[in-house]
This record gives sequence, C-alpha cells and structure tokens, in this order.
Amino acid sequence: MQMNSMRTHLLGGLSPRQFLAVYWQKKPLLVRQAVPGFTGLATREEIFDLACDPDVESRYVRYRPDAPGESSVEHGPQKRGRLRGKREPWTVLVQGLNLWIAEADALMRRFDFIPQARLDDLMVSYAIDGGGVGPHFDNYDVFLLQGIGKRRWQIADQDDRTLVEDAPLRLLRDFRPVHDWVLEAGDMLYLPPHWAHNGIAIGECTTYSIGFKSPTARELAHGFLDWLDEHLCLEGMYADPGLALQDNSAEISPAMIDQAARMLEGIRWSRADIAAFLGGYLTEPKPNVFFAPPAEPLGRDAFARALAAYGGALDARTLLLWSEQAGFHINGEALACDPADRGALAALAHRRALDAGQPLSPRLLDLFHIWYEDGFFHLTNEPSP
Ligand code: SIN
Ligand code: CO
Repeated sequence: MQMNSMRTHLLGGLSPRQFLAVYWQKKPLLVRQAVPGFTGLATREEIFDLACDPDVESRYVRYRPDAPGESSVEHGPQKRGRLRGKREPWTVLVQGLNLWIAEADALMRRFDFIPQARLDDLMVSYAIDGGGVGPHFDNYDVFLLQGIGKRRWQIADQDDRTLVEDAPLRLLRDFRPVHDWVLEAGDMLYLPPHWAHNGIAIGECTTYSIGFKSPTARELAHGFLDWLDEHLCLEGMYADPGLALQDNSAEISPAMIDQAARMLEGIRWSRADIAAFLGGYLTEPKPNVFFAPPAEPLGRDAFARALAAYGGALDARTLLLWSEQAGFHINGEALACDPADRGALAALAHRRALDAGQPLSPRLLDLFHIWYEDGFFHLTNEPSP
C-alpha cells in the first residue's frame, strides 16, 4: 500500500498502470515534486570523488553553444583540479551511482514498475552555471530527477536527427524545442526514446537520471551469436569420398557448397535457447563491476542464524532475473533450482531482500551462503562495501 502511494507520488498522481498505458515510450511527462524534499543523494565532493575513481565510469563535458564542434568530452578517471574550474561552463557525469551509494540503489528500485530486465543504471550529473551536454537525443527512456539547484530543460519531438559533424559529442545540428521548463529540486521529467532534449544548469545543479537498457537488434544478435557459438553441438566433418576430378582445381565446386550448406543447416535454435541466452545476457555484470566478498565470512550455520535474526539482501551489483522457460540467472550464470524453491527465489528476485525469520529450505540456505561468500548477497546487519 505504502509502495503504491509512493509510486503514485513519483508519477504525479498516476498509477504505474496509467503511466505505462499513456506515457511509457509514447510521450514526455513532467512531474512537479515527484520526490518531495529531494535534494540529491551525494554531495558535490562525493560526486567528484567518484568521478576521479578509476573503477567508476565518468565523463567531463564542456559544451560550447557558440561553437558546438569545439565542445569537448573527457572520459574518467577525472583530474580533481579540473573539477574546480569556473571560467567556462562544464558538467561531470557519473554512471552507475546505484553501485556505490545504497540510497541511489533504493531510489532506482522505486522505478520497478518497469521490469528490472530493462533497468540500466542511475547516473548523476553535476554542473556549474550554464553547464550541460548540449541538445541531443538518447535511444532509451530516461527519468530526469532534479537534485540540488535548478535546470532548464528544453525538449523537442523532431524527425530531423542530423548531428553536428565532427563534434566529440552527439549534438543535434538543428534543435527546435517545443517545451521549455525549469525543474527545481524534486521535480522530474520523463522522456521516451528519441525525444530531443537540452538541459542547462541554472546555477550549480545536480540531475539524477534513471536510464534503461534498449539493445539494438545488432547488439542482441551479436550477443546471441556468441552464446550460440558456446552452446552449439554440431556433428560430422567435411568428407568427399566420391570426389570428381575438377577441370580447374581453384574452383569451389557446387558440390562443396552443397555439402557446407547441409552441414550449416545444423545451426538451429529454439525459443528455449533464446530464453537461456537472455537470462545470461541481461544479468551479465558490466565490465567495471567487481563483487567484494566478506573479509571474514561466517560459516554456513552461523550465516543461517544471522539471516534468520536480521534478514538479508542482494548486493546492489547483483542482477537476478528469471523466466518461465529458462529459470533463474544470477550475474551472468544459470542457476540450478529445485522447483520447490522457485517461489521463494522469485520473491527474492522481485524484492531483492529477505525478511528476518523467513523460513528457508536447507538448499536455499546453502545457495545464499555461497552467494554471501561471493559478495552477491549480504546480511542486513553488515554494511554493503
Ligand atoms: C545531464 O544530466 O546533464 C544529461 C542527462 C541527459 O541528457 O540524458
Ligand atoms: Co540525454
């Protein structure tokens, strides 16, 4: 009940169902005071620390409205000194804030009316007055939640997506905004894919973006072909006991092409293969993600007692998804699971936490203990690293 009312607030009085029916992937939604009292999740210094950390993905952007081609972007780790400049407007963007700050993970989880399989990450941007990344469009949906300060958002639903040539950023050459809004702390703007937008900081400001995964058909095919390569079992080898003498030994004969075609017809896949591929693909941690196992892990029985007493939760970096067809996948790996444990595992995957005192089968306790030793799962009383 409480969760529902929070969601309704977050969506400006709409229920998640209404939001999906009317706005999701269809049209923008501006929500004033989506998160009342929100002033961000990280201080300026914390954002800068993350931007300077080599394990964190970040970008430092100087957009030049007067000379867009001379804009610049520097990938992290950032140099601290640069984050003090005041001469020209700049912004620094930090990806995956949800992996580093528990409150950022909690904020992102408030958007679970969209399936977790679509959720990508929470990004934060910090900008000085006038800073921004310039007019552009993204290929994915985004919720832009204003932290400290104010940001002017201009948006456009234009077909002309021509980009400024030779610019280091993807900038629209001819941006024609149809809405112009100033967002204050706690206000939020939802944009469907391909809506052009330009956010300009009014004074010092931070913006939190909840972004989604939208793989292109090409990316999906690439991932699936890799998966298929690992899982293919083809029998036989090329053979030609009836080889006829060729007039020209350099010719790839029609008989050879026929035989290769017959051999390759063995490359088949089913819907079950696609489900298994998706489970691994969608739970594969990003390359910069590392898990931190506990320094002195509890043994199985002490762990079971602590879990019963305090409860536990998936690590913020853990991706646990399931499908009817392929069962459960965690952090890129398929999970063998007893049918009797499916309900409890599906509930954990959805809520990402286990209450204290929840009855669990010995099999699940063994499994959660392994996850705990791997850093995929934490006891509630331990701080997440
Ligand atoms: C920003 O926070 O400055 C950029 C976010 C976006 O345009 O997607
Ligand atoms: Co954008």
